[in-house]
Amino acid sequence: MTAAGMAREATPREEGRAVTNVYIDCDPGIDDAVAILLAGGSKSLNVRGVSTVAGNQTVEKTTDNARRVVALAGMGCPVVRGASQPLLRPPVHAGEVHGDSGLGDSHLPASRTPLAAENAVAWLAESLQREPDPVILVAIGPLTNVALLLAAFPEVKPRLREIVIMGGAMGPGNITPCAEFNIYADPEAAKMVFRAGVPIRMVGLDVTQKVRATRSVIDKIRSLRSDVSEHVSGWLTSYADAVRALHGEEGGALHDPLAVATVTHPDVVTFEEMYVDVETRGGLTYGQTVCHPAGLTGHAPNAKVAVGVRPDLFWDILIDALRQY
Ligand code: BDR
Ligand code: CA
Repeated sequence: MTAAGMAREATPREEGRAVTNVYIDCDPGIDDAVAILLAGGSKSLNVRGVSTVAGNQTVEKTTDNARRVVALAGMGCPVVRGASQPLLRPPVHAGEVHGDSGLGDSHLPASRTPLAAENAVAWLAESLQREPDPVILVAIGPLTNVALLLAAFPEVKPRLREIVIMGGAMGPGNITPCAEFNIYADPEAAKMVFRAGVPIRMVGLDVTQKVRATRSVIDKIRSLRSDVSEHVSGWLTSYADAVRALHGEEGGALHDPLAVATVTHPDVVTFEEMYVDVETRGGLTYGQTVCHPAGLTGHAPNAKVAVGVRPDLFWDILIDALRQY
């Protein structure tokens, strides 16, 4: 069939399906890459843009990875580079888990699509102002860009329906005994975000660690037999190898994809209202999220915090999204 004769697929809006507009701020990162693909494959999400931040790797690497993943998915949304270092603390990366490239032993072709703008924070501010309706920002890396956005452009706050954060924990951390990586990588930024007065859902480590891509999950993904499933199963294999060698655990936790899944399927995770603050002065506890129910300290809740997950539903959501490629 000629290009002219080819029928264009109807958009979800044209089909009368409800779609949610989201922006993804990320640091790919293996689980970030899977989160982008989950969002791109979801019939109920419209990814309006991807901004990057230093985290799992340098911002040059996370940006390059984000561009490659967006190209692989054929998503066609803008990608913009954000902060290259945390607000105050020295940078910390996670090459031992995500590899030197940030995407394990990846063989994804480079993207030729140029970056959509110079500065992710200014670009996010302008983009959010142009949106007809408030959108959801899914933040799955350190919160540097988000803190800068809310501090420098407070007028965008009403343009944010909510911020869904993968970060923090109600319990032990994964980078120190008390801190989860995304919060530890920029605790001062995280503190600003939790205090910004924007609706927040926090999907923390104690819940995301319950969805682990073990061998049987990886095999199921590989059996989808697409270019995307081949890449995803390869990344998840390096991720599983890394967490087995480092922590003796089976399967890498799909932290960031679970955060995206809470937008497409709010019932995959249960939340409770809490007051969340971030420890920025403690020695042993630097970067810890302190979460407690309203009433204990007199603070009004500032976030909904994940307390439970339905792993089987999550795997269905992920496989269904990956099947779309
Ligand atoms: C978080 O840290 C990163 O390594 C992952 O991409 C995820 O966002 C988990 O602690
Ligand atoms: Ca991440």
